[in-house]
Amino acid sequence: MTKSLTKMTAEEAAEHIKNGETIAVSGFTPAGTPKAVPRALAARAEAEHQAGRPFKVNLISGASTGRSVDGALARAKALGFRTPYQSDPDLRKSINAGETRFFDMHLSRLPQDVRYGFLGPIHTAVIEASEVTEYGEIVLTSAVGAAPTFCRLAEKIIVELNHYHPPFLRGVHDIYEPADPPNRSDIPLFSPSGRVGQPVIQVDPSKILGVVETQLEDEAGSFSEVGETTARIGQNVAEFLAAEIRRGLIPKSFLPVQSGVGDTANAVLLAMADHPEIPPFEMYTEVIQDAVIALTRKGRVTFASGSSLTVPPATLRGIYDDWRYFRTRLLLRPQEITNNPEIVRRLGTISVNTAIEVDLSGNVNSTHILGRNMMNGIGGSADFARASFLSIFICPSTTKNGSISTIVPMVSHLDSSEHSVCVVVTDQGVADLRGHSPSERARLIIEKCAHPDYRPLLLDYVSKGGNGHSLQSLAAAFGMHQAFSKTGDMRKVNWSDYLK
Ligand code: COA
Repeated sequence: MTKSLTKMTAEEAAEHIKNGETIAVSGFTPAGTPKAVPRALAARAEAEHQAGRPFKVNLISGASTGRSVDGALARAKALGFRTPYQSDPDLRKSINAGETRFFDMHLSRLPQDVRYGFLGPIHTAVIEASEVTEYGEIVLTSAVGAAPTFCRLAEKIIVELNHYHPPFLRGVHDIYEPADPPNRSDIPLFSPSGRVGQPVIQVDPSKILGVVETQLEDEAGSFSEVGETTARIGQNVAEFLAAEIRRGLIPKSFLPVQSGVGDTANAVLLAMADHPEIPPFEMYTEVIQDAVIALTRKGRVTFASGSSLTVPPATLRGIYDDWRYFRTRLLLRPQEITNNPEIVRRLGTISVNTAIEVDLSGNVNSTHILGRNMMNGIGGSADFARASFLSIFICPSTTKNGSISTIVPMVSHLDSSEHSVCVVVTDQGVADLRGHSPSERARLIIEKCAHPDYRPLLLDYVSKGGNGHSLQSLAAAFGMHQAFSKTGDMRKVNWSDYLK
């Protein structure tokens, strides 16, 4: 950092943010998000509230953030509006209580929707950097997200210069912003390791209000040990993909893989890497999580392109310690490039995402618990599912000790439609839905994916209620959900209450 940039404390920086403003933060997941300024902003909001003054901001990020952003600001009741994704328990409560207005959206669209003006102006961007120069060059840290767009459009920028991240990160980012229609042309990216942009974000230095120096690790958590159910899901996915190679439907050299977030997605990657018939593969994904790093070390993943390195601090430290190895195997891009439907379709990405529930037509709910409460958001799941070579959705067949079936007659909220879902995998098995009519799909999903406790119930639903092309009954479609609401167990549904 050079002398011409103004140094300030996090508290001084937070003083520049006014009630009602829209702030945008760098990062994608807890990786690469600022920490000190948002915490100071939360403290300021609490002080303002105690003094009887209103103080709320609108917050836009790349994806979820860390506890210092969504957690601290939600607890301080300082979030009026939030988009595009979150995974913090306190913010979730605030959203579901109607205290924070949440706009759930495809992550690939966020940067362009900001550019198009759909989300209003951005007053302040708070950007975590590993380097900033007097010429306005910003080198990001462990994620890119939507930071390039936020930096370009924000009225002012506050940089959190985090010395935890080493200067040698310059070069791991590929910063590229497509032009807006009608001037957009093709994005010339033809492989996960291809480069189309610059290593730095270039901003007008006069927009940099100040630099807050920190030394703080990312706030990403670690994964649980792979349990029996997730291991079975992983094995089912791996077996299915190996069979597809044998059938000649996936090239022997394999295709780039996108894998979703969470424990189940981690288990799937580990199982794929353990399968002797699946060759080493590349990742063209959104979040590079723990399993990817372990598999890169083993040579099972040969290259990983993503928008963030979302790994626990010990894993990130290990990557930095072995930078000579990793710098040629990792690349971080803006989310509108990692999740870009044009690129995902061109590369032939195999996408694996987790569902909350799946219905008998193959529709997927990724976001809403029992149709009402927001879990996290759609994230990038539908960006990939719709555009991929093969879209797989995974989930355990039941949750909450078997009282909820994730296979239901009709999803209580729709995120990815049956047209974007090729294959459904649970711990019970694999339903390959490609080329099947709705009634064939319903039977496949029940036979292959539903838990044995629920199979007779679901078959009963189809045979008693179902007629027409989709085998659905409008009267009974949510009978299992209603049984859970009334009795705490979906198995207690009585179809005759609905189907007279
Ligand atoms: N009904 C009620 N609760 C359900 C449920 C259902 N059908 N399915 C899951 N849940 C509950 C679980 O019981 C668990 O509750 P708990 O936190 O009280 O234990 C919680 O939801 C999370 O489920 P879990 O099995 O631990 O899921 P996960 O960590 O694998 O995450 C998603 C699953 C769907 C929430 C997560 O993958 C997600 O947010 N996906 C959408 C975004 C996305 O796919 N991004 C990746 C794109 S690159």
